[in-house]
Amino acid sequence: MDTIGVGIIGCGMISGNHFHALGKLEGVALRAVCDIDEEKLQKAAAEQHADGYADWHGLICRSDIDAVHICVPHNLHAEMSIAALRAGKHVLCEKPMGVSLHQAQAMEAAARESGKMLTVCFQNRYNGASRRMKEVIDGGSLGNLLGGSAFVAWNRAEPYYQNSSWRGKWATEGGSVLINQAIHTLDLLRWLAGTLQLQDCTMSAKRLGKTIETEDTCDMLLTNASGGRFLFYASNCGVSNLPVQMHLVLEKGEMHLDGARLTIKGPDGPVFEDYATALAVGKDYWGSGHGPFIEDFYHRIKMDQPAFITPADARETTRLLEEAYTYTMSVRRRPT
Ligand SMILES: NC(=O)c1ccc[n+]([C@@H]2O[C@H](COP(=O)([O-])OP(=O)(O)OC[C@H]3O[C@@H](n4cnc5c(N)ncnc54)[C@H](O)[C@@H]3O)[C@@H](O)[C@H]2O)c1
Repeated sequence: MDTIGVGIIGCGMISGNHFHALGKLEGVALRAVCDIDEEKLQKAAAEQHADGYADWHGLICRSDIDAVHICVPHNLHAEMSIAALRAGKHVLCEKPMGVSLHQAQAMEAAARESGKMLTVCFQNRYNGASRRMKEVIDGGSLGNLLGGSAFVAWNRAEPYYQNSSWRGKWATEGGSVLINQAIHTLDLLRWLAGTLQLQDCTMSAKRLGKTIETEDTCDMLLTNASGGRFLFYASNCGVSNLPVQMHLVLEKGEMHLDGARLTIKGPDGPVFEDYATALAVGKDYWGSGHGPFIEDFYHRIKMDQPAFITPADARETTRLLEEAYTYTMSVRRRPT
């Protein structure tokens, strides 16, 4: 394959990060974009010098398109990813991997059967600080991971939901703060701590209850396979989008993540490392990972290597989401 042809379905907010990342790659050509919104479609097609499609079925059939990015509302991820894989395309799907475990498993099966690459956009795993934390844990210099906490306090006000037809609804977003915003931090914690089990969870709509059907706040107690205990708190009721905080306690030290800044406290004292990079595009709380994530996706296609974030790996994050939503609903339904 000389040049990898690409199509993007969904020309909304996040598509800019995909366009920007693709524009920097050699041997990769964006050939088509798709959106049901005529204005967004025309704008994206003109700016990207790509063909425009109002119906995604036309885009995934093109023989000069080898890979498809799915950048649409959550409820469409499974259907579009599966169809694109069956049409013989590699798929880079924005998070989440479906709105249910069943959907994630169907996506995983479609990837297996097609032999094409499927990956899910958990770009925060590509952040410098995330990789450093993983390196310290896997390297073992600070001993076993005993537990920790993760804290996401962001701000999503009424207009964010009122001006969007799919956000804040169970049928289309599949939840809110957990499946949409805090999913990155949950996935990161899972990547660092290994398989997580949900012990307890509460969800509520503390501030946006009149606007959304779903949760704006969620807390969880999770454990990993070696008994480590993790507290997880996420809310869209913050006054601003505060840097994500994560604190990990190991046998011989601690790591504290504050956005892109990492403090590693080992036996020889604390070391401060700053992984902040200037963002060329997008919102700062999306992090800088889209570029390296998309670059790595195409590198792996060219090298015929498996995805860094495999379908089985990403599916585990959806499993946790489903457990959390199911658990919370069953608690809510309990007679008082
Ligand atoms: N990785 C990240 O950090 C990150 C950040 C923001 C959004 N996202 C994800 O990206 C996806 C899109 O989010 P967004 O913020 O760009 O939303 P958005 O509403 O701004 O854009 C979604 C676009 O999809 C289009 N669309 C809807 N149905 C379609 C269909 N049937 N065919 C073609 N186009 C269709 C809409 O018209 C809209 O332009 C979501 O999955 C979201 O979770 C990821």
